[in-house]
Amino acid sequence: MKTIKHLVAILFAMVFLLSCKDKSETNNQDAQLQNEVVTLSEETLYRPNYHFTPKKNWMNDPNGMFYYNGYYHLYFQYHPDSNVWGPMHWGHAISTDMITWRELPIALYPDELGTIFSGSAVVDIGNTSGFGKVDNSAPVVAMYTSSKQIEGTDNWKQTQSIAFSNDEGKTYTKYENNPVIDNNELKDFRDPKVSWDGERNRWMMVLAAGDRIMFYESKDLKDWNYLSDFGQGIGGHGGVWECPDFFKLPVNGTDETKWVLFVSINPGGPNGGSATQYFIGDFDGTQFAMDAEFSKALNEEHNYWIDFGKDNYAGVSWSNASTKDGSKLMIGWMSNWQYAQAVPTETWRSAMTVARKVQLQQNDQGYRLVSNPVREIENYRGKKVKKENILIAEETKIIDSKTIDLTSAEITFNISDLNPESSYTFKLSNKSGDELLFGYDHIKNNFFINRSKSGKVDFSKDFASKITVAPRTSTNKNLSGKILLDKTSIELFFDGGESVLTEIFFPNAPYEQLSLKPTNQEFNLDTIEVNQLNFN
Ligand code: FRU
Repeated sequence: MKTIKHLVAILFAMVFLLSCKDKSETNNQDAQLQNEVVTLSEETLYRPNYHFTPKKNWMNDPNGMFYYNGYYHLYFQYHPDSNVWGPMHWGHAISTDMITWRELPIALYPDELGTIFSGSAVVDIGNTSGFGKVDNSAPVVAMYTSSKQIEGTDNWKQTQSIAFSNDEGKTYTKYENNPVIDNNELKDFRDPKVSWDGERNRWMMVLAAGDRIMFYESKDLKDWNYLSDFGQGIGGHGGVWECPDFFKLPVNGTDETKWVLFVSINPGGPNGGSATQYFIGDFDGTQFAMDAEFSKALNEEHNYWIDFGKDNYAGVSWSNASTKDGSKLMIGWMSNWQYAQAVPTETWRSAMTVARKVQLQQNDQGYRLVSNPVREIENYRGKKVKKENILIAEETKIIDSKTIDLTSAEITFNISDLNPESSYTFKLSNKSGDELLFGYDHIKNNFFINRSKSGKVDFSKDFASKITVAPRTSTNKNLSGKILLDKTSIELFFDGGESVLTEIFFPNAPYEQLSLKPTNQEFNLDTIEVNQLNFN
């Protein structure tokens, strides 16, 4: 009897021990699964379908973009060791169409002159720099700011340096006589943007110096002469001036051309934090002067921003990328210094905007910059749904994810005979109850984005506490718009690109339904076309 009891006890003990082992294994598995869910959900939920992100860690401004031999190059401010800003390098990616990108090894590392801040790169077709090798392809010359912290202070010494590449931008050699521009007086002195001035057979360069832009010229990219400056007391000055760009654009439908100056500013953007303003005028080879009408309009109301959304900063144009219509191609950093380092992604931080084509147009109110997604995105269109003549008398579902995956879509719409008493609100929603509202308020004459309930918003008080607004400049009685949707971003191009708003968001589940609702008055949605964008 005793032995039987003994045996039963031993058996129980064994079963107990085995079940304990099972438990601990299950616990481990649970933990592992949970970890996977965490990483999985960050990748699946937040890694954009088509906007460029580095595989790992921190990115800010786009740098040194040039086109050569079939490839668009994109360098970027990069901190390879962490997901917040730190010692800057130039990361590198290439693309054949500015839409899908392949990340390459880091192109520029910090050195004894400092870390590698923003700058530009040009293809030196005529080998004016002498950096090219005989019978080889043209050298690519990068010009950037070397930024070095002055020991024991919070100040930085900023000088301009160059580096050249004889393998089409893959690897660079730093110039032995760097820095090529030194200025001992200025604390903020950075972000050189070089371009070829064909009319005067020379290189030109603009750089940001605190509250103004300085203009330079050079014959060989090594010796630079100061020409003039522009900007003190003009335009927005709510923060430091950064990342300029300067180029000539044809005015659509005319044979006139005008010079455009981009100036990023942080803070001081129209909706808080970082944003990019622009100025239109003429250039006599030495001095940029604003167009008289433009200057008057700017003084009356400063609404000359490339993008009114909170998330398009430090954008500049591609060099050596010629377009049939003379337009410029650009890309911007899709974040804002107010909260970029706190957004809820851990593996990487920040994405770029979609690449855009920039043009100039003139209407009753003078010159205005228009920007639109580059045409190349249309090559990714897949399934299309088109709807016409929908009466919107109450909140009406337009489409949901059973038909089109709204985390990778391009939508165009038209509403005619706008009613001055109404507003037009689109709503993206998901099963977690998150919603992103955007549209046009005709009563206030404002476009808007409201991300206050868009998902994770409390990582920064500046992220969603205010509704983003943009004045409508067009007086057209019809409203047309293009909407680009990715998992964590929306890019809105209204009135043919005259008013643009770009913003990011972090929903708790993918957005899966788009609806439209009226305020006060019903209206007719003339057409809406939803294109699936496929990237695989
Ligand atoms: C703009 C900027 C530039 C600077 C870089 C540093 O976002 O502040 O002026 O070169 O970022 O990463």
